Amino acid sequence: MEDFAEVTYNGKTFKLPVTTGTENEKAMDIATLRSASGLITLDSGFKNTGATKSSITFLDGEKGILKYRGYAIEDLAEKSSFMEVSHLLIHGHLPNKTELESFNNNIKKHTLVHEDMRKFFDAYPSKAHPMGVVASLVCSLSTFYPESQNPNRSKEETMLTIYRLMGKMPTISAWAYKNLVGHPRVYPTNKLDYAANFLNMMFDLPSQKYELNAAVVKALDMLLILHADHEQNCSTSTVRIVGSSQANLYSSISAGVVALWGPLHGGANQAVIEMLEKIQKDGGNVEKWIQKAKDKNDPFRLMGFGHRVYKNFDPRAKIIKKACDDVLKELGVQDPLIDIAKSLEEVALSDDYFKERNLYPNVDFYSGIIYKALGIPTEMFTVMFALGRLPGWISQWQEMIGNNEPIGRPRQIYIGDIDKKYVPIEKR
Ligand code: ACO
Repeated sequence: MEDFAEVTYNGKTFKLPVTTGTENEKAMDIATLRSASGLITLDSGFKNTGATKSSITFLDGEKGILKYRGYAIEDLAEKSSFMEVSHLLIHGHLPNKTELESFNNNIKKHTLVHEDMRKFFDAYPSKAHPMGVVASLVCSLSTFYPESQNPNRSKEETMLTIYRLMGKMPTISAWAYKNLVGHPRVYPTNKLDYAANFLNMMFDLPSQKYELNAAVVKALDMLLILHADHEQNCSTSTVRIVGSSQANLYSSISAGVVALWGPLHGGANQAVIEMLEKIQKDGGNVEKWIQKAKDKNDPFRLMGFGHRVYKNFDPRAKIIKKACDDVLKELGVQDPLIDIAKSLEEVALSDDYFKERNLYPNVDFYSGIIYKALGIPTEMFTVMFALGRLPGWISQWQEMIGNNEPIGRPRQIYIGDIDKKYVPIEKR
């Protein structure tokens, strides 16, 4: 039986088809509403607007559920690897051994960046924020591979771009860090796996060989899995919308990196650690900072709390909180910031302000503490998020292109001046 919703306006009723997803979510399709009734829909921040039908990621914010292509995040985080998850997102299914090996090898073939790119790193100021460097250099990759600008590329050409992005992003990211600290750059080592190679490029020094620690590599790999996709968030929507104009994939991903940078999105992980350090310096009075977060005249917000979609515990935050305890124990690190984070969480979760608004810790609340324990500096936290999100952005872009989605172009209601007469400058 056809499902539909009715909208009545000016005495006329319009029937709008209702679409149901495989997890039983429902949407009223308003594509014909304007031509039939003259009405558009208005939804600032797209809080209740579905931009697409997608088969990549499902999340239920009320129940705290997250799945990539039908697999529970808890299972993937515990049992799989970032490369398996990347294959799952990009190719649509979990790889068998041969597929995984070939996927890995294809990526490893492209870990080097063109030597000319070194000049860009030399030109950045030494204190350049790594996110600015990564965003620009990912976009710059398109200038090294001009064929990527052809919107009618073949499937093979697209896959080559995808392997290049997956291979080069860790190199660019680690070199952005080396730039920040003024250390010599380390070239990729293809016998190492994805996370291990990245850590080696970050921390190996001519004066001191970096010793890989299996627990550190595993923790990083899991963090990448947890960040790999999150349906139509700000940066992913940006990638899809930029890509919808047929801009090349490098530029679309670069736009995603920039969108991720803001403190209300991926930049929150850096903001959380900065907040915890501030609270620590201020004497560690958690109650005082909770009051500040509740005060509408105070711009302070509890960073790492609240989420546009989760109105329950972010399932990724649960996994990271446990991993955080395990990693700190394994590495023998004692970080007073974790005690501050735990008391903030405890006080906030029992406070009416946070309860009424369903504000729970999100993925960023504990991730910074693990990154810090792994030796990754604060300015690199959002880059770590971007590294993890890369396969998700890629698969969302592939889906958008594969569906032949039209160029993204919202409408508006104009509320400015009307019919003003031009006055020459000398008479104003
Ligand atoms: N601290 C204090 N109050 C908060 C917080 C917070 N962290 N988050 C939301 N609120 C309050 C708002 O002031 C608002 O209160 P009101 O109803 O009295 O006006 C209410 O809760 C709803 O908040 P909105 O901002 O309307 O919710 P929205 O869905 O637009 O924003 C967001 C979600 C941006 C994540 C918000 O919760 C926030 O700023 N959190 C802190 C930043 C952060 O951690 N971002 C990372 C998100 S996860 C990610 O992107 C990877």
